[in-house]
Amino acid sequence: MSTTVQAAPIRHFLQFSDLNKEEILYLLHRARVIKDHFKNYQPHHTLHDRTLAMVFEKASTRTRVSFEAGMYQLGGEVINLTANDSQLGRSEPIEDTARVISRMVDIVMIRTFEQSRLERFAEFSRVPVINGLTNEYHPCQILADIFTYIEHRGSIAGKTVAWVGDGNNMAYTWLQAAELLGFKLHISAPQGYTLDQNLIGTPDPAVFQEFTDPMEACRGADLVTTDVWTSMGFEDENEARRKAFADWCVDSDMMAEANADALFMHCLPAHRGEEVSADVIDGDQSVVWDEAENRMHVQKALMEFLLLGQLDD
Ligand code: CP
Ligand code: NVA
Repeated sequence: MSTTVQAAPIRHFLQFSDLNKEEILYLLHRARVIKDHFKNYQPHHTLHDRTLAMVFEKASTRTRVSFEAGMYQLGGEVINLTANDSQLGRSEPIEDTARVISRMVDIVMIRTFEQSRLERFAEFSRVPVINGLTNEYHPCQILADIFTYIEHRGSIAGKTVAWVGDGNNMAYTWLQAAELLGFKLHISAPQGYTLDQNLIGTPDPAVFQEFTDPMEACRGADLVTTDVWTSMGFEDENEARRKAFADWCVDSDMMAEANADALFMHCLPAHRGEEVSADVIDGDQSVVWDEAENRMHVQKALMEFLLLGQLDD
């Protein structure tokens, strides 16, 4: 008599809330183990013989390098595709692309435009799919940001994060993280650039508070964070945004409203003199370089988790 072994359901990471609190805490713990191995030159080849395909429909420096270096460090291989050098740029449907790529590799990371495009890819993928940034979410970045906060200050639960600037993919993901991990999110965005209620519903006021004045949003914050005024794909709005966001530059006066030990983060790339002053991003409270490096460590933990599940240290 033969027995049928049921394959485990595929897990994707399309938005932060695709994982539950226990899984996110596991990833943060596992990233610490993985980073320590990396810093001590200890091999960590848990994904030997596995292949990651990366699909970029928008530009990238950090996401490209952190996923590629990370997969090599796990013992795996990487294939990089962009819209221009693949048939995606010649209108091959995303569903067909997903069917084909996912028969040949073990895991896929995509950076694209609408979240719905990523979801269509995932629906037709035989392997786990990771969101490497969409118009709506940037979950790998927030995983790295929270890991970085914990690395410098300990648990983020009960703390206050101030988001100053555009109600964009980063801001939406911070809100999902706040709801999951139990910290408070203050958001200040210019009129017309706040979070869309259709996407966020009615968040618990104990978790989410909006401010018209960015100084007020920073008051008592443990972490102040911002991002470019114009995200990729919205370049036509550049001039209008420059005007609208003029008062939303994180400078030393704004940082002075936050707690004395507050950190500053920015997912990068940054524009000094626009969303952040040079003295803040290059100053003592800024942890942006650790934040960028930590992308690699959390994503190694994430790829391991999606392919192998939770592992013992
Ligand atoms: N923060 C971030 O995702 O950077 P890249 O656009 O360079 O990948
Ligand atoms: N919000 C920015 C993040 C870049 C990493 C964008 O989407 O362009």
